[in-house]
Amino acid sequence: MKLVLLGGGGFRVPLVFSALVRDHEPGRVTSVALVDTDRSKLEVTARILAEQSAPHADAPVVSIHTDLEEALPGADFVFSAIRVGGMTGRWSDERIGLSHGVIGQETVGYGGISYALRTLPVVMRLAETIKRLAPDAWVINFTNPAGVVTEAMSRILGDRVIGICDSPIGLARRALGALGVHSADARIEYAGLNHLGWVRSLVVDGVDRLPELLEQPERLESFEEGRLFGADWIRTLGVLPNEYLHYYSFTREVLHADQLAPRSRGGYLVEQQGRFYAEAAHSAHSPLALWEACRHDREQTYMASNRQSVGMGERDEDDLVSGGYEDVAIALMRGIAHDQSARLILNVPNRGVLDLLDDEAVVEVPCIVDATGAHPVPGSSIPDFGRGLVTSVKYVERQTIEAALSGSRAAAVRALAHHPLIDSVGIARALLEDATATFGELSYLR
Ligand code: G6P
Ligand code: MN
Repeated sequence: MKLVLLGGGGFRVPLVFSALVRDHEPGRVTSVALVDTDRSKLEVTARILAEQSAPHADAPVVSIHTDLEEALPGADFVFSAIRVGGMTGRWSDERIGLSHGVIGQETVGYGGISYALRTLPVVMRLAETIKRLAPDAWVINFTNPAGVVTEAMSRILGDRVIGICDSPIGLARRALGALGVHSADARIEYAGLNHLGWVRSLVVDGVDRLPELLEQPERLESFEEGRLFGADWIRTLGVLPNEYLHYYSFTREVLHADQLAPRSRGGYLVEQQGRFYAEAAHSAHSPLALWEACRHDREQTYMASNRQSVGMGERDEDDLVSGGYEDVAIALMRGIAHDQSARLILNVPNRGVLDLLDDEAVVEVPCIVDATGAHPVPGSSIPDFGRGLVTSVKYVERQTIEAALSGSRAAAVRALAHHPLIDSVGIARALLEDATATFGELSYLR
């Protein structure tokens, strides 16, 4: 099988590859084509993958490409994990947001809309090219903001594009860990949009164990989301919120922490990632060891200002354990390629599962995956208190897609002004002014 990775020089590519080299089954991925606009990042990544391959005689053959059209033919799967505008774009959005007193995080509120406005025109062109050169390929979208990007791509690729995120399974795994249960032994009920959803139940041997967890504050606060939201608030909700809901529940506190932070997440990553790629390109030492160390630091500092805002300390080593991102991708690919029915939480068109949204709305829900694709499992629902939020944010996503596809500035203003984290039409307009002045990619908005 051939896998094409768009954003092939990206920092998390070795994570995906580490899962591929562990697969020795027939029908595994035997060829990986890395595609990126940045050749030096591709070269660094290829050296890391070569080190990862060394102990495995049957490791996939890796090729690197700056030309998408050269890489695509023959693809069985395409992973898309690109970052339009780079990490400096992320940093600029954080600064623009903060300068107007709103959160600039890359997937939530102003930051998510601006990032989507940069990204959607590019992924639409990618989707057209994939449809032309690899019409039978399955496209697995990691590109953020993953829900809205997947929905836009589905207008071209239909059900051949499936969005993934590690945060739902990460949350469920940590919660089950607090109950002493392995996630493979549970049926996880989860519903929402990407970075905006809730674990509704954790069924083990036919019994929902979530109520038992909710009764025990110390267990609830033994893992990351429990500490972020506090046991008291989670017990009030009666469900487990995705960590990204922290921006909605503690907006003022997070904004305040962001304003006080010496550097935003994007600023930190511009420096950290820049240093990594430069060192790895020039060092004679193992780039894999450098990558491991850099990844540890990146995970350690993940969502630092959210934790800071509620007085949490460092992350626990247990919360750093990977196996989210790459495992979801590999499980999805295997389920499709081998027709092995698997249950995974994915971003797919709603098709009647959530009653408050139409069929084409991409939602994040449990799905059954097999050779025919990913099919949402009936029965998911949004908690009552979240219905308004989900409806509003889906409206915002739709206006963002309309702005990107038609070039309508008015639609972009509608998206920003209706976002629950942007509290003024005047600020929405000012944010768009700053975004269009900063990002040449947005010159299509008229
Ligand atoms: C989680 C989210 C991803 C996001 C990543 C950001 O894994 O689910 O969607 O890309 O965090 O991590 P970063 O290290 O870039 O802040
Ligand atoms: Mn995600």
